[in-house]
Amino acid sequence: MRVLGIETSCDETALALIDIESHEGKISYKILGSYIHSQIAVHSPYGGVYPALAKREHARNLIPLLEKAFSDTNTVMHPTDKTDIEIATILENTLSPKEAELHKSLSHSDLRLYIPNIDLIAITKGPGLEPALWVGLNFAQALSALWNIPAVPVNHMEGHVIGSILHSIEPNITHTATHIEFPALSLLVSGGHTEIVLIEDWGAYTVIGSTRDDAVGEAFDKVARMLGLPYPGGPQISQYAENARNNPSNVHISLPRPMIHSKDFDFSFSGIKTAVLYTLRDTYNINSPEQAQKELPDEVRDALCKEFEDAVTEVLVSKLKSAYSAYSPTCLLIGGGVSANTHLRKALYSLGAELNIPVYIPHHHVTGDNALMIAVAGYMSSQTYTAEIRVQTHIGAHTDLKAQGTMALE
Ligand code: KG4
Ligand code: ZN
Repeated sequence: MRVLGIETSCDETALALIDIESHEGKISYKILGSYIHSQIAVHSPYGGVYPALAKREHARNLIPLLEKAFSDTNTVMHPTDKTDIEIATILENTLSPKEAELHKSLSHSDLRLYIPNIDLIAITKGPGLEPALWVGLNFAQALSALWNIPAVPVNHMEGHVIGSILHSIEPNITHTATHIEFPALSLLVSGGHTEIVLIEDWGAYTVIGSTRDDAVGEAFDKVARMLGLPYPGGPQISQYAENARNNPSNVHISLPRPMIHSKDFDFSFSGIKTAVLYTLRDTYNINSPEQAQKELPDEVRDALCKEFEDAVTEVLVSKLKSAYSAYSPTCLLIGGGVSANTHLRKALYSLGAELNIPVYIPHHHVTGDNALMIAVAGYMSSQTYTAEIRVQTHIGAHTDLKAQGTMALE
């Protein structure tokens, strides 16, 4: 089956075209093309993602990116037999009045006149930034009606879970996805989420722990901002922490490990962030990002980044270890943008070695938001299951959330 994946939940406009099939539970996939148009440069001056700008950028980028994807992959296109009036009516009916820019571009694009040789469209339904998500959803809805090809909604966080079983991403070669025995435990660490998810089967997810305040990626980004470092902060902090690991100094900074001993699997990261703020203010007399950028000695910045990375990693690893003891999973599946972090990756692999279970972390190219994971997740749910996601607020108490791929893993 040939699947087109579309991802617009945040600040990456991403598309992927894959050939995928499953045989006796084994999934094999071939990546024909995977495209990510990053909007970092657009958002960076704001120190974070600006939703209205993200929406505008997705509307501008989706059509040229898809035209490029079809052309690069030599996708066979058949002329439509729909009349101009039928096409105009479809666009009118499927695109919201709020998507005027997308409507205008699609009304002039060849995408409305030619039907690609694909079988399924997988589209990120959420969670994410609403204005950004709506562009992708409207686009997928319009294409689905123009081409008479089904569109399946995909939960973004389920996409991140599935990213962990796609360890090979070389294009145009058939790969086999990692086969998972259940139950599995997943740690999802991104800019909007920090969750531990019990996976009893594909599609059967229970969120057993989540953050009570900031997501871990958000904490990285906020601490980076305090230090006058550009968005996104994760890679910046990681780089400076690496300096401190390679060249230890005499600077000693100590940050808290919030909730590390609590009996649940929940997290809290806003306290670490506040502790960074107080350390900067009270110990180093730094009161603004500009001042931090100019006056904070390099070795202090590096030591602070290292201590922050250590604190976050210790909490994540410790909670995952407790969850392992409670649920005895066969493996750990890691996902989300923060899983790019080298120190965290090492710590998670060490945990796997200690527990003697495999740890699957996405290939570096698919830790962040991408459409490959969405295409595979869309295929899997269309073939085999209806996703069911539950939130467990207290150990032993399950609360049913929503179903049918429209729910939030939160
Ligand atoms: O999954 P993702 O790309 O987008 C969301 O769904 O949120 O995650 C983005 C987050 C950002 O907060 C970014 O700072 C963080 O992932 N991140 C990192 C690293 N690379 C990206 N955090 C720590 N270390 C990294 N190397
Ligand atoms: Zn994400």
